Amino acid sequence: MAKSKYQAPRGTFDVLPEAARARARVERAAAAVFARAGYEPVATPVFEDTELFERGVGHSTDIVRKEMFTFEDKGGRSLTLRPEGTAPICRAYVEHGMHKLAQPVKLSYVGPFFRHERPQAGRYRQFHQLGVECIGADSPLADAEAIGLLADLLAELGVPGVELRLGSLGSFEARQAYLEELRAHLRANEGELSKDVRERIDANPLRAFDSDDEGTQGVMASAPRLVDRLEGEDAEHFEEVRSLLDAAGIAYEIDTTLVRGLDYYTRTIFSFVCDRLGAQSEIGGGGRYDGLVEQLGGPPTPATGWAAGIERILLALGEEELETGDAADHHVFVASDDAAELRPRTIAILGELRHAGLTAQTDLAGRGLKGQLKHADRIGATHVVILEQGGSAQLRDMESGEQRSIELGSVVAEVTGGEA
Ligand code: HAM
Repeated sequence: MAKSKYQAPRGTFDVLPEAARARARVERAAAAVFARAGYEPVATPVFEDTELFERGVGHSTDIVRKEMFTFEDKGGRSLTLRPEGTAPICRAYVEHGMHKLAQPVKLSYVGPFFRHERPQAGRYRQFHQLGVECIGADSPLADAEAIGLLADLLAELGVPGVELRLGSLGSFEARQAYLEELRAHLRANEGELSKDVRERIDANPLRAFDSDDEGTQGVMASAPRLVDRLEGEDAEHFEEVRSLLDAAGIAYEIDTTLVRGLDYYTRTIFSFVCDRLGAQSEIGGGGRYDGLVEQLGGPPTPATGWAAGIERILLALGEEELETGDAADHHVFVASDDAAELRPRTIAILGELRHAGLTAQTDLAGRGLKGQLKHADRIGATHVVILEQGGSAQLRDMESGEQRSIELGSVVAEVTGGEA
């Protein structure tokens, strides 16, 4: 391999053609799952005002405290490469007055996201998410439907070893009494907590459940659990999400320690994990965020959604399942023994084949006819059209090796046997 002093930045990667094909397959499957459920694709900018994430994701989260790629533009504005997609989509929902549309507004997205994390398998600084947001519905049916979409997608792709963990954080108001109880537990055991957790007892005590510090984990083993404290409508909502998942035949485990790294969640939260992944075992997750739209200046609007990491889906699928089997039915190579003279005819026939929807290529490297046939074989051509002087041509079927004269005027029909 030639060595250049330039390399992709730490935590980022190049997507080469083979990997791009595997990604495209995942994205196509997701697009089909989303479309069947009426989730329409949207796209928001790759960077946003920094404040959107500070407010939306939360000041006390790891994302905002440590992981954002933030920079100043030439006008002195603070901008941030988006670390996640929910706050931007809610920003767009408010900005475009989507609360005036029929509710809920069901949106889907795919694209790059950026977090300055310590790179490791399944964790990158530029990664790709696909996801859905269902904005304007508080029904447990919306949660169950959203969860079902990710379950369907992973099943359709054949991702092995997937488990769904489910929890509930209750509404913001109802959660406050529990948080006080949790803070008291943390303070009573302060000496055993990691510095990071100790510093966030006031701002974000729930994060202690996510700590990989041994002392903290010991303290959390005996901590009170929010799921046990749910009451009234919060408890009913959670109960109904569970019974709807049962009715849909979607298996889950209640995880009383489940918390998520973003502050906007209320009520339902969930996480799809895969035993094929290492430390970064979550393929995708999300939950309900009933306060976010209002926090960003819109009307009170309940919402739910999730995002999954495309790289993690691919890792979980493993190399062997990445074969896409997408080879074109008709892949035509247009060859000739005198390239310069036959070029005008070559380009005209390439156009004709491609306009008819076939894959068509030609030699761009000055090979002789023999070399062209070899090359056609290497790139997987199913047919070779060999142009000859004087307007005649041969068609070679690469699988059978049969070759016959054809009329160039009907090259598409000759290749497809009249199917195209
Ligand atoms: P999140 O859990 O932060 O949620 O990210 C969702 C998914 O993105 C993760 O499950 C993981 O697969 C992938 N992911 C996150 N960080 C990285 C990374 N550094 N490298 C590779 N993959 C990564 C959200 O972002 C929420 N916006 C999800 C949501 C949508 N909640 C409601 N609606």
